[in-house]
Amino acid sequence: MQPCWRGLGTALVERGLRGPVALVTDTEVGPRHAQVALGSLADGGLTAHLVTLPAGEAAKTLDTVRLAYDALLEARLGRDTTIVALGGGVIGDMVGFVAATYLRGVAFVQAPTTLLSMVDASVGGKVAVDMPQGKNLIGAFKTPRLVLADLDTLATLPPAESASGMAEVIKAGVIDDPDLFEHLERGSAEPLAWTITRAIEVKQRVVEADPYEQGRRAVLNLGHTFGHAIEHVSQYRLRHGECVAVGMVAAARLAASLGYATPDLETRLRACLARFRLPTAAPGFAVDQVYDAMFQDKKKAGGKLRFILPRAMGDVVIVGDIPAEAVKAAIQAVIGDPS
Ligand SMILES: NC(=O)c1ccc[n+]([C@@H]2O[C@H](COP(=O)([O-])OP(=O)(O)OC[C@H]3O[C@@H](n4cnc5c(N)ncnc54)[C@H](O)[C@@H]3O)[C@@H](O)[C@H]2O)c1
Ligand SMILES: [Zn+2]
Repeated sequence: MQPCWRGLGTALVERGLRGPVALVTDTEVGPRHAQVALGSLADGGLTAHLVTLPAGEAAKTLDTVRLAYDALLEARLGRDTTIVALGGGVIGDMVGFVAATYLRGVAFVQAPTTLLSMVDASVGGKVAVDMPQGKNLIGAFKTPRLVLADLDTLATLPPAESASGMAEVIKAGVIDDPDLFEHLERGSAEPLAWTITRAIEVKQRVVEADPYEQGRRAVLNLGHTFGHAIEHVSQYRLRHGECVAVGMVAAARLAASLGYATPDLETRLRACLARFRLPTAAPGFAVDQVYDAMFQDKKKAGGKLRFILPRAMGDVVIVGDIPAEAVKAAIQAVIGDPS
């Protein structure tokens, strides 16, 4: 990772990417940040075409991908093109899919502009779009030639989006970096460059050990088995990061109830999440509703649920075959459902 995409043009040229550039962004990010990127590409002597797509998860579809293909074909861009995704995880995932498939694949660069996309979505090479049947069902593995995150872009990010991204940063600490967690539980993410770098390094270590998600990569789903189910039953009113926060608390409770961890792990996790204004409970749902929603998640292996359980800060284990009663008790702990 390089600290700033004001040097985007030079960075591309240094990597031998001297062809035309399609800078693909969305309607929220483009007006705020595209000019700086375009100026940098011009400084590098590169020809750039700006493509602006609709913003938000609802636009992460094959219809929007087609809009991008049309714009690229209209501009007669060839195989020497570099496609740069300028935006959050939605743009990164969708534009990465475009780069993987346009003319059977062209060079791809990520310029992430949300905390979540800097520490998570832009790392690891998974790109995808959603289908009415579910999220991220159509996609590819497409490794970017370069990821350039400019921390200055975070200044325009709505606070709720920052908090949501922080859930994945805290997750990184719990999975594989106790120093990062201890730093965060003191209440500050500063210096942000250090925090973001440490979180990226966790994801990088895990992905490098298992690039095609055969085993260990599943640990990145800490809090996500519960979290996706809560996201689903909330009909996506709750943000992904908020649901992951609640899901991690449930995972900590489950770990303690099965004897993998001591209860103080959950206490520390709750305190840390609260410091970053993240929820530690999602009241208003029924236990069975959340439990049933877990089985909708495509990430279950062979129809069985697998859970990522924290044993200690920086140490998680993948466990299957957990009795339904234990899982339901962990759900109960975070939804406060009296039934
Ligand atoms: N590929 C992966 O490994 C991976 C990992 C995690 C998440 N994801 C995907 O990432 C997506 C979520 O990403 P996200 O949270 O970044 O959401 P997002 O891309 O929708 O961004 C959130 C909102 O903030 C706006 N925005 C982005 N940057 C901004 C900025 N700097 N200033 C102002 N507004 C800005 C966006 O236009 C959008 O409206 C999901 O689709 C998820 O599936 C992918
Ligand atoms: Zn996530």
